[in-house]
Amino acid sequence: MDAALTEEINRLTSLGLHRRCVEGALERVAALTLEINRLKKTRNAVICAHVYQTPDIILGIGDLVGDSYKLADDCRKTAADEIVFCGVHFMAETAKILNPDRKVYVPSKNAGCSLSEAITAADVRALKAEHPGLPVVTYINTSADVKAESDCIVTSANAEKILRKMYAEHDKVIFIPDRFMGANLAKALGKTPGKDIILWKGTCVVHEHFKPELIDVYRKKHPGLVALAHAECPSELIRAVDFMGGTGDMMRYVENSNAAAFLLVTECGFGELAKLRFPDKNFIAMCRLCPYMKSITLESVLALLKDPAPEEVTVPPLIAARAKVAIDKMFELAA
Ligand code: 13P
Ligand code: SF4
Repeated sequence: MDAALTEEINRLTSLGLHRRCVEGALERVAALTLEINRLKKTRNAVICAHVYQTPDIILGIGDLVGDSYKLADDCRKTAADEIVFCGVHFMAETAKILNPDRKVYVPSKNAGCSLSEAITAADVRALKAEHPGLPVVTYINTSADVKAESDCIVTSANAEKILRKMYAEHDKVIFIPDRFMGANLAKALGKTPGKDIILWKGTCVVHEHFKPELIDVYRKKHPGLVALAHAECPSELIRAVDFMGGTGDMMRYVENSNAAAFLLVTECGFGELAKLRFPDKNFIAMCRLCPYMKSITLESVLALLKDPAPEEVTVPPLIAARAKVAIDKMFELAA
């Protein structure tokens, strides 16, 4: 076997990736990661990987890894000429808005998001006309057009903090597009949907289906279990768990806790990564796959690096400039 391939297999093994590969698959994965990492250097490209990607992408080729806030922030600081975004389209659009002079690519045409598709810029303009003077606080899981109509962007890592600051200046806000996250945040802040916070009807196709009844089933089976759920889950589910947050908060919680077991209520990639990062901890993944995130593969990344032009992400300059004001407001208020 080629010495470089053997070395790559050893590198992936040291990261624990052999534990999730069937017989012979690690060699195939190593051949792909080797070529991707070579091409990436030649192009001076950086690969962003959201924690819902598969571990072969995150650990094998990812340079910047994290939740949507960390990835947006890291992209602002990269010196690379090109950004290959292994995540969903709205994340890549955000990277482009923050890096107008760099090429940004997504290695899939199917990396959408049900939340992002739930609202249009025209919907936001209608909401503003219906509720004049209210600030529009917008979850980052939205298109650039929707961000351009917004006052401030938030992610699950900073939404509560930013909303608190907004309520110091306003009695009422518009929060779009995730109605579950909006209701969960309203509860955490002692606010009433409809009265203090205007919500939209968007939902995440992954998180909306988790059932609260199952949490108790797992608690009985695993004494000492701690249940963690993403803030996009329905409120009945959030009431049944011990911790609600974004993926960054959930990972930090796991890192700092000695709980007997962790029930992770979110996309499956998160649990796979947690198992590899913390092999001595016990995980029970009550998980679902995000079809958008999972439309990216090592093969699609390699194809993109060989011929990137068809996968370039563009944002019209006027939309980008307006969206950037709302994104910069997030960085200011989250600091
Ligand atoms: P995070 O910002 O928590 O990573 O969430 C992004 C997302 O799409 C969750 O479904
Ligand atoms: Fe969108 Fe849900 Fe997938 Fe996150 S998990 S990218 S919110 S569809």
